[in-house]
Amino acid sequence: MPTFEIGERDFLLDGRPFQVISGALHYFRVHPDQWADRIRKARLMGLNTIETYVPWNFHAPEPDEFDLAGRRDLGRFLDLVAAEGLRAVVRPGPYICAEWDGGGLPAWLFADGSAGVRRHDPAFLEAIGTYYAHLLPVVAERQVTRGGPVLMVQVENEYGAYPGVPADERTRYLRALVDLTRAQGIDVPLFTCDQADDEHLSLGGLPELHKTANFGSRSLERLAVLRRHQPTGPLMCTEFWDGWFDSWGLEHHVTAPETTAADLDDLLGAGASVNLYMFHGGSNLGLTNGANDKGTYLPITTSYDYDAPLSEHGAPTAKFHALRAVIAKHAPVPDEVPVEPAPAPELDVVLDRRVALDGVLDLVSGRTSRTSSAQPPTMDDLRQWSGFVLYGTRVAADDAVLVADEVRDRALVAVDGDPVGVLDRTTHAWSVPLPRRAGTLTLLVEDRGRVNYGPRIGEPKGIVGPVRTATRELTDWEAVPLRLDVAPGLLTDAVWQPAGDDAAPVAGPSFHRGTFGSVAGADHFLRLDGWSRGLAWVNGELLGRYSGQGPTGTVYVPGPLVRAEGNELVLLELHGAAAPRARFVAAPDLGPTEA
Ligand code: GLA
Repeated sequence: MPTFEIGERDFLLDGRPFQVISGALHYFRVHPDQWADRIRKARLMGLNTIETYVPWNFHAPEPDEFDLAGRRDLGRFLDLVAAEGLRAVVRPGPYICAEWDGGGLPAWLFADGSAGVRRHDPAFLEAIGTYYAHLLPVVAERQVTRGGPVLMVQVENEYGAYPGVPADERTRYLRALVDLTRAQGIDVPLFTCDQADDEHLSLGGLPELHKTANFGSRSLERLAVLRRHQPTGPLMCTEFWDGWFDSWGLEHHVTAPETTAADLDDLLGAGASVNLYMFHGGSNLGLTNGANDKGTYLPITTSYDYDAPLSEHGAPTAKFHALRAVIAKHAPVPDEVPVEPAPAPELDVVLDRRVALDGVLDLVSGRTSRTSSAQPPTMDDLRQWSGFVLYGTRVAADDAVLVADEVRDRALVAVDGDPVGVLDRTTHAWSVPLPRRAGTLTLLVEDRGRVNYGPRIGEPKGIVGPVRTATRELTDWEAVPLRLDVAPGLLTDAVWQPAGDDAAPVAGPSFHRGTFGSVAGADHFLRLDGWSRGLAWVNGELLGRYSGQGPTGTVYVPGPLVRAEGNELVLLELHGAAAPRARFVAAPDLGPTEA
């Protein structure tokens, strides 16, 4: 049987030195009908390996569910990697960071406060054991030692950057993960990765596991730091950051192809192995994006283009060609290069039907999940792990102002259905003036993505803490979890109103619907100028959030979702639009970059 080992100086594949030249490609960020195309293009760039994380919460949306089908068919993804003649590296977490909702840790795990986050904690470890028992057989049977593509498996992720855990507990926790991994038949080498400095590398690993480092510049310097912590064996950069992620409200991040290429050249010239993070970023489809909060809460955009060599829609970029040329200096690269995709179809869509969210609450809420309580429950109390909850209570004429301790992450405040303001975690906007009349107060609270890095991982969402007015603390709350991620499917019986150009404008959260014909199977780029913020679906598939905050100016619509006729575009617009029109444009607009 084939072998993959960590030698004195090199990785050894069947006993021979093997330089891993890998690229990250997350199956969970790419439509499954496009997996083979993206993998093939990785081979054409000269990569010999594909690396993917596994997000636990993507496979286990509830404690008693585990889904490995369709978009979640990791086995099929790894088989496609093998079919292309490539190897694989798998990083199953349990924590993955990755700008993914909660860093991949399921919110249900922390809802009752009994499981420690990334600690040697019985409840946490027991849940990981169950996760691994469901997932790892898929990986185990595809290890190189059984004739499959999987060379290595990572344990945890940049654990050295996680604060607040004593050194001895770190060791016990990582050892427990190793035992749980080995118990599922994983026999290939295990490794850890950490940011390339002494503190992180010394806190994040185990003496018996191979250490690797993450960085995106100054390769030789960083390899020297890694060498201090990993005195023998191959050097590997597990995350060679060749681009960066985007957050709503900031600029679109880009890195110069020639700088990235020079740093990669240094790395490969030193004989080190590498995993480009990312080779192809893809999209945060649905409600899957994470967020950072280092004092300012910054959710990640729907696009995870990452300024990676292969763009969000699978086009080779200048960086693709630059990195391919560098790889060709060190390893064989196929002659073929991927073709540029044709411009996407351009068309206008009139969203000629609409219905206010208020009018369809019964259809989009779990009918039995209304909860009345003195204090507002968190979303996690309601077992709502993402999306929206509608909170309601009464206000009096002299309440004057609404003040919240903290809302995670954004609330549209209305009185008797009329919008009166917004509470927003990003801008620390915690108060809204109220009209001087009694009425029903509602807060439509949106979880904009669970924090994926640092000590806030595992925190609850929704209204957290008391909500006051100028005169009192508000009580007698009703809270209704909404199933907006699947809203179009729930709205088939809704009474949609005509909403052509002559219809009276509306303000406040509303669904808008239009149909269009186009080129079946072609990628599209949805442009929503004049719209504010919300969610967008094509043919019932939630593409993700759009926001006029930018930077991203278009939403990527994967070609496999598009038919020749009868396509349905649905928007949930949270504020209001200038005109009921959307446009599909020829190319993506990822937004302004730093000057
Ligand atoms: C770290 C993490 C990754 C990702 C990158 C930034 O290296 O390990 O999961 O979050 O940062 O994109």
